[in-house]
Amino acid sequence: MQFLAHFSPFCADNNLYMTKNIAIFASGSGSNAENIARYFQENDTVKIKLIVANKSDAYVLERARNLGIPSVVFLKKEWDKADNILAVLKENDIDFIVLAGFLLRIPEAILHAYPNKIINIHPALLPKYGGKGMYGDNVHKAVVAAGETESGITIHYVNEEYDKGEMIAQFTCEVTPADTYETVAAKVHALEYEHFPRVIKEVLNTESQKH
Ligand code: GRF
Repeated sequence: MQFLAHFSPFCADNNLYMTKNIAIFASGSGSNAENIARYFQENDTVKIKLIVANKSDAYVLERARNLGIPSVVFLKKEWDKADNILAVLKENDIDFIVLAGFLLRIPEAILHAYPNKIINIHPALLPKYGGKGMYGDNVHKAVVAAGETESGITIHYVNEEYDKGEMIAQFTCEVTPADTYETVAAKVHALEYEHFPRVIKEVLNTESQKH
């Protein structure tokens, strides 16, 4: 495990902090979105307020219903201008955005409205296996094809370029010659479930201490 950005130690006095409202953006299954939502379910200072999807058949919407979290779908064309999306984020008092398997580029208007307040998880050890086309199983297939001996996850801030924002943390897993892309995907998902919610909490704690 490696933390790449500096974090102050966690402060136990939650009353010091205002509640942070989080929106999770997801395009597909949403297993990370659900895992994050469950992690913060009992948390008084972090609220998963909204799930935003870009496809009306994304399974994450079903998960949102089951979790009782409001969700909204913005189809691809609405992401070009982003006015409607920003209006909904504002209406919901969203402070921070987590991308969890979200496949569209984040429009500049949203990046400007949320500077250093959008983080993403990438299922590989950036800067390797990042950029256009490197998502989902494509990443794990490329890792196996290259004969890598390790893979892992990268949690990073989001900027204008795919997978190039400042790194926050990386966690690794072993890749052996016996691994297939499916087994690598399973190892990487396990790392995501274990670490992503906790890193989000640490980033939010650090944020709160700045104010
Ligand atoms: C995860 O592996 C995440 O790292 C990547 O997309 C996948 C989404 O999985 N960005 P899920 O939808 O959370 O199950």
